[in-house]
Amino acid sequence: MNKTIIVTGGAGFIGANFVLAWVKQGLGKVVNLDKLTYAGNLENLLEIEHNPQHFFVHGDIGDQALLAELLAEHKPYAIVNFAAESHVDRSIHGPEDFIQTNVVGTFHLLEAVRAYWTSLSEAHRKQFRFLHVSTDEVYGSLGKNDAAFTENHTYAPNSPYSASKAASDHLVRAYHHTYGLPTLTTNCSNNYGPHHFPEKLIPLVIHNALSELPLPIYGTGHQIRDWLYVEDHCAAIRRVLEAGNVGEVYNIGGWNEKPNIEVVKTLCRILDIKKPRADGKSYADQIAFVEDRLGHDQRYAIDATKIAKELGWKPKETFESGIEKTVSWYLEHQDWVANVTSGDYRHWVAKNYAERGEEMA
Ligand code: NAD
Ligand code: TYD
Repeated sequence: MNKTIIVTGGAGFIGANFVLAWVKQGLGKVVNLDKLTYAGNLENLLEIEHNPQHFFVHGDIGDQALLAELLAEHKPYAIVNFAAESHVDRSIHGPEDFIQTNVVGTFHLLEAVRAYWTSLSEAHRKQFRFLHVSTDEVYGSLGKNDAAFTENHTYAPNSPYSASKAASDHLVRAYHHTYGLPTLTTNCSNNYGPHHFPEKLIPLVIHNALSELPLPIYGTGHQIRDWLYVEDHCAAIRRVLEAGNVGEVYNIGGWNEKPNIEVVKTLCRILDIKKPRADGKSYADQIAFVEDRLGHDQRYAIDATKIAKELGWKPKETFESGIEKTVSWYLEHQDWVANVTSGDYRHWVAKNYAERGEEMA
């Protein structure tokens, strides 16, 4: 075994940020396995395209034979599993892909990894880690005055997305409990930052604002999410991988709860300064309240005490500093946005928002 890790889903939003940071910090070789769904994009990895420490493999986490080959060839000391279908609205329109990748795919990945891990020497078995990246959405929805999610919160997923992630978390837990596989699970709050696909709230609002399109707010806009800058999430994952206790779960969050309407107004204020509208009006004039999401969770909030106390991790960015950096990144990378919003993206947007009474295609 050497310093190699296998990352799955490393061409997506968080995975790409993780791989870029890992390679740029010289932490070792990364074998990056990604199916390149609509959410996966090799352009996210251009900076390390020719770096010999990055080895990209186009494939599916559900392909156990391919995984067995990769494990035997590269002999990683860790797997970091980001690969997933990740968008709640898409899971409402078509849950099947979520079951295939998040549940069945994770199962096949675990089976391949278990076979590999069993074949290792005792010393290498001890060193090995399987880190599963998950979400706070598995805990369900909080009321206004409820305490934030701790690692002991009951699982109560409400969308096909969160239910499929919850199932994958349970499989990971079972592989540790039953077979002794050295697993770690992280449940993180909503991320934002560079390379975020513009179907999710923050990049969608920036993109629509600049494209003179409506800024769609589901329902009243009073639903609350707990926002974390993506690089802080990646740093937390590195810390858990390095020092987390095997079999344990770590909640990751930025103590940054915001109602959606406030997030959108903040984005409009920053854009008004950085890239004022030609007519001198505010981007906030483009806000449009549209039909709500089915089964929309009211509030998520992470209690990140455990990772702070046990592993000494805390976020570097405040919401204010992170959101400012994010808007700047999008303004500087309009070519990236243009590329990812061509093709299939347009069909998705037309379908999702036409049903909500808003024409955006
Ligand atoms: P994303 O949708 O941007 O990226 C997912 C990546 O996985 C894509 O590159 C895609 O091509 C790849 N992929 C999908 N199915 C695959 C398969 N069967 N085999 C191999 N690769 C496959 O998602 P993201 O926002 O980067 O999220 C990454 C992980 O973090 C997910 O597991 C998600 O549940 C979790 N998470 C996300 C957030 C968030 O706010 N985005 C918060 C907490 C946890
Ligand atoms: P999203 O970015 O899809 O993440 P998640 O559903 O995983 O939290 O949505 C964040 C919040 O923003 C969520 O409460 C739904 C809301 N939302 C809108 O109001 N309008 C939109 O167009 C989108 C995509 C999301």
